[in-house]
Amino acid sequence: MLPLVPTSPAGRPAPATLDLEDEIRRLKRERNAVLLAHYYQESEVQDLADHIGDSLQLAQAAARTRADVILFAGVHFMAETAKILNPERIVIVPDLAAGCSLADGCPVDRFVAGRAPYTDASTVSYINFSAAVKAESDYICTSSNAEKIVRALPSDRRILFAPDRNLGRYVAKQTGRDLVLWPGSCIVHETFSMRKLEALLVQHPEAKLIAHPECEEPLLARAAFVGSTAALLRFVESDPSETYIVATEPGILHQMQKLAPNKRLIAAPPENNCACNECPFMRLNTLEKVYEALRDLKPQIDLPVELRERARVPIDRMLALS
Ligand code: 13P
Ligand code: SF4
Repeated sequence: MLPLVPTSPAGRPAPATLDLEDEIRRLKRERNAVLLAHYYQESEVQDLADHIGDSLQLAQAAARTRADVILFAGVHFMAETAKILNPERIVIVPDLAAGCSLADGCPVDRFVAGRAPYTDASTVSYINFSAAVKAESDYICTSSNAEKIVRALPSDRRILFAPDRNLGRYVAKQTGRDLVLWPGSCIVHETFSMRKLEALLVQHPEAKLIAHPECEEPLLARAAFVGSTAALLRFVESDPSETYIVATEPGILHQMQKLAPNKRLIAAPPENNCACNECPFMRLNTLEKVYEALRDLKPQIDLPVELRERARVPIDRMLALS
């Protein structure tokens, strides 16, 4: 079924009296649209999603979908991946400004210049990169498959791992490989306070600290378990403990609590008395913007054909290895 052409002028705010949840469900049906939401989205956006996942699971869901419209509630680099995998489908996002500190720190010109001395190296790049950087990379990875992808490369191959140095250092340790690390980091996962964490662990001696591999090394060294968002969820679901201190973006606690309703989940505290453990990019996607994107079928992700085709090569390699 073809998506309906919007008859109303774009950019109108949603009327205050509208039941946004009902309208989003109705528009999804009318437009044959699928809503993909990352675990770091607001709870109400997650609750309306057809697929909730980490960045790998959402790329896999995008590769499988038969919907006419993909509404991607994550950061826009994830939506670009969905478009690269689905050039014939309409891909929309709630807010085009939803970017990522990792990608901001590494535009394509800097990436190409930084890679230049490593002519013999394969580049393994994180999924939150622009399509232009993806097109310059040999493999794309996410936090859940980075280790697998590095292990799949011949042991004598030099690897440039970009851009998250914490994830790269963790993967190097797990695989015993000597990776060349790009000096980038995620502003969210570097915000946690070791001082406050140590105090929390004293206060809750029964709690297990679990952490995303984008956290800094001292925190990872203290963690009972390290894994991507999906791996953290699986761990809490299957592990016998009752209390966890969770060092990643707190949006994940929504699904975690649903999967493990009897467990106590404590969000790891940031250094300042701020909400800086909430990703400012992911949180741009409000329910109202989800509604408006479906109503107006915009903003859309569009990429030049040549760029799309070059960026697809390392994404397909990742999907084949995952
Ligand atoms: P994963 O979805 O791979 O766990 O990564 C978390 C993240 O920071 C995504 O922006
Ligand atoms: Fe980027 Fe970190 Fe936000 Fe993920 S949590 S989108 S890696 S800034």
